[in-house]
Order: sequence, then C-alpha cells, then structure tokens
Amino acid sequence: MTEFTYPNIQEYIANLVPQRPAEVQKMEEYAQQNGFPIIGPIAGQLCYQVARMIGARRIFELGSGYGYSTAWFAQAVQENGGGVVHHVVWDEKLSQMARQHLSALGYGEMIRYHMAEAVQTLKATEGPFDLIFNDIDKDGYPASLPVITEKLRSGGVLIIDNMLWSGKVFDQADQSADTAGIREFTRQITTDNGWIASLVPMRDGLIVAMKK
Ligand SMILES: C[S@@+](CC[C@H](N)C(=O)[O-])C[C@H]1O[C@@H](n2cnc3c(N)ncnc32)[C@H](O)[C@@H]1O
Repeated sequence: MTEFTYPNIQEYIANLVPQRPAEVQKMEEYAQQNGFPIIGPIAGQLCYQVARMIGARRIFELGSGYGYSTAWFAQAVQENGGGVVHHVVWDEKLSQMARQHLSALGYGEMIRYHMAEAVQTLKATEGPFDLIFNDIDKDGYPASLPVITEKLRSGGVLIIDNMLWSGKVFDQADQSADTAGIREFTRQITTDNGWIASLVPMRDGLIVAMKK
C-alpha cells in the first residue's frame, strides 16, 4: 500500500491540476532549472480559484518574481471581467522577464509593473484591493500586515506564501529572522479579531485570510 505521507499527498494533488498553457509550462521549467522559488501549480491553482470565487478584479502582489504567480491571478481577473494586477519586484531582470511572459500570455494590458520595494509600493498605491498576495522576504512579513490591512477591502482576501517554511516554523532551534518573521505574522493574523484565517498545508503552506 502507498503510504499516506506529505510527498505522496503533494504528488496526488499536483496531478489534479489541469494542464497549463505552454508559456506557463516554460516558466515552470525555468524555475526547476534555476532553483527559483515560484509558488508552483498546486498553489497557483488555489490562488486562481480563490480569486475567481471572490470575483477579484483588483489584485496587488508583493514579491512577484518573473510573473508566474501573476499569471494565475491575471487569468482569474480576465475571467472575472477584467481589471488590474499589480506586479512588484525589486530586480530589474525579473521585471523584464515578467513583461515578456505576461505579454506572451496576452495579459500585458492588465498588469501594472513596479520595480521597487513591495510594501512601500503598496502604501503608495491607491486601494482598495479585492485580493492581496504576499511572497516577499519572510523577515518583512510582520511589518507588511498593517499596510495590507489598510489597502484590502472588507471581505477581501489575503494569501501569504511559505507559512510552513519547510517545517522550520516548528523547529524551535531555528531562530533566524525569516523563520521568526513567519511565526510572528502567523501569530498576528490568527489572533487578530479583524481576520478569519486558515493555514492550508499545501506545498510550503499558504495562509488564506479574509478581512472582516
Ligand atoms: C519567492 S520569489 C516570488 C515568486 C513569485 N511570487 C512566484 O510565485 O512566481 C520573491 C521575489 O520577490 C523579491 N522580493 C523579496 N522581497 C521583496 C520586497 N520587499 N520588495 C520587492 N521585491 C521583493 C525577491 O527578490 C524575489 O525575486
């Protein structure tokens, strides 16, 4: 009998995600070949589904890399009737790569590109947003929450990645700034009465939270 293990569950779930367009598959191959941390198809599918479920048409992403997660959100916004997805990354090369991939996918017009620090950019951008996705450096998570809270509409959804951090969150010997940032953010959002939050143990763990 096949064991009920974390890797087996992830593989089983991955096989349920529908086939992606060739351009998206190219982005997945790049991540694999270069060890770049994209959210991958399992989490991408969940992000896309949540965005569709709430009819999101204004999305802000913090830490967008070369646009892989953006592609999932852009598909949802397009199917929801159109709108805007903010792509924010501070690396020029990644921003350029994102422009090429997202244009090839036909989402060019829908994306606003920012090459800057993500939390400061959110602060400076007019809200409110239906959905905010956070995937910045993990030590920056706690300080991002007040800004996200201000910019998300009531009933809007926050999705935040790497909340299991390969298990380091429950390794008490790990007191690094990134792990501490994830623990503190988790404490904040799960104890704040203004949010309804669940940790979805998919891939590296995503918190999906609704602002009341
Ligand atoms: C984990 S990767 C993003 C992957 C992307 N969300 C995806 O799944 O396709 C995070 C990216 O955001 C950048 N980044 C990290 N912290 C940032 C910040 N505070 N402001 C802007 N970019 C940031 C990193 O350099 C990296 O390129």
